Amino acid sequence: MSEQNFSILILAAGKATRFRSEHSKMLHRLAGRLLGEYVLQAAQATGPDCLYMVIGHEREEVRKAFARPGLVFIEQNKQLGTGHAVMTARAELEKCPSPMVVVLVGDAPLLRPETLLQLVEIHRKSRAAATILTTRLENPTGYGRIVRVGSRVRGIVEEKVATPAQKKIREINSGILCFSRTHLLKYLGELSDENAQKEYLLTDLIEIFNQHRLRVAAFPVADSRVVLGVNDRLELAQIEKLLRRRKAEALMRDGVTVVNPEATYIDQEVEAGPDTVIEPGVSLLGRTRLGRDCHIQSYCTISDSSLADRVTVRPYSLIANSEIASGATLGPFARVRDGTVIEENARIGNFVEVKKSRVGRGTKALHLTYLGDATLGENANIGAGTVTCNYDGVKKNPTVIEDGVFIGSGNMLVAPVRIGQGSYTAAGSTISEDVPPDSLAIARSRQVTKKGRAKHRSQAKDPAEKTTKA
Ligand code: UD1
Ligand code: CA
Repeated sequence: MSEQNFSILILAAGKATRFRSEHSKMLHRLAGRLLGEYVLQAAQATGPDCLYMVIGHEREEVRKAFARPGLVFIEQNKQLGTGHAVMTARAELEKCPSPMVVVLVGDAPLLRPETLLQLVEIHRKSRAAATILTTRLENPTGYGRIVRVGSRVRGIVEEKVATPAQKKIREINSGILCFSRTHLLKYLGELSDENAQKEYLLTDLIEIFNQHRLRVAAFPVADSRVVLGVNDRLELAQIEKLLRRRKAEALMRDGVTVVNPEATYIDQEVEAGPDTVIEPGVSLLGRTRLGRDCHIQSYCTISDSSLADRVTVRPYSLIANSEIASGATLGPFARVRDGTVIEENARIGNFVEVKKSRVGRGTKALHLTYLGDATLGENANIGAGTVTCNYDGVKKNPTVIEDGVFIGSGNMLVAPVRIGQGSYTAAGSTISEDVPPDSLAIARSRQVTKKGRAKHRSQAKDPAEKTTKA
């Protein structure tokens, strides 16, 4: 790690109280990522000397979700306030090699690494004990207000204790502050919880610094969005909308048509090639990648899947954890999942479910079919209503359908079973034995037709009626 002169401490121990949630706020999802991931990635991108995260509520889950090389977790057993969270980190901060420590709230997902680096730079130049990242908001409700005397920053007052006059201050504390490490450690002990919130507030340090005649600087950012906090589910939805809008715009600039960005849900990590068209109601989630010239029609959900070029997905299809090769067509109402591979120009039609299977080049399964644990060769045709009976009640068994096979409609293929190259099966067959290449398999009882029997039936009494009378 390069010597940066600063380390970062992320405060992430709190519970999502204003979310009315039992879960850690860091674990709530925002545009396809965990909320905590945003600040963490911004922090990492600045290359700090050390990176710490204070955790508490749901600590095991949080640890598991965010663990990565170079990140040190610090446990805060009771969440007694942002100041207390930093006090908990004292031992680590004493060992920390950097002269500056940037403290971040975990719930500012739009924060950018450049803004953090600018904050550090301004702090370095100002020779202040602390530099607060601030911004001006139209509606500052809920945030700590920056109290200035002249141009000097004298304190931060939290919403709860602000006077009506202070509530009118529109410059707010982003919750992101750069400290001189020695001053932070020297005065941290002076924080107390004797206030309206009964918490140790990190923000009280500003007044304490002033009392000790230490300089406090502020770095106001013009684009207030970069420091917006997510304190309740309404703000979560607002930021989600903003992130999705940005993502759609970035794709559009790269040559993707997003027919209605307001009604399209594209996660941050999704990629799509030029001339691809995404219709309304589509969700592209997780690590989904689309090639060029794809057409994703209305109301499809595609997660963690990769689609090559010229793939068409018709309305209401679901694709998860699968790979679709170029020229393939899926849907409407197709469901493709669990590591399925669909090869070039294959066609999966309506009400067809494909699970953990490989469908070869040019193969078609167009109607009402289940293919599970199956390997299909090239240019096979699967008749409507075919089912691979893969589960025997204990384990899953494989079905192999070789090149050029024609499966008649309504077949039950009882796995394990193999249908040899170029063979065909009669409609309505229950195939439980392997079929060698170039054969015809018929596995159904012969039809019996009784002429004139229909008339006989209509004359017979209703058997149900008989029973009641007896
Ligand atoms: C905080 C600031 C406020 C600022 C706002 C910006 C304080 C006292 N207030 O208020 O001035 O305008 O952020 O968004 O700092 N946390 C812990 N341990 C605790 C308490 C909190 O780790 O004991 C963590 C939370 O998980 C969260 C962060 O600190 O990530 C901020 O806590 P939160 O309760 O959201 O503070 P705000 O009331 O928003
Ligand atoms: Ca907050």
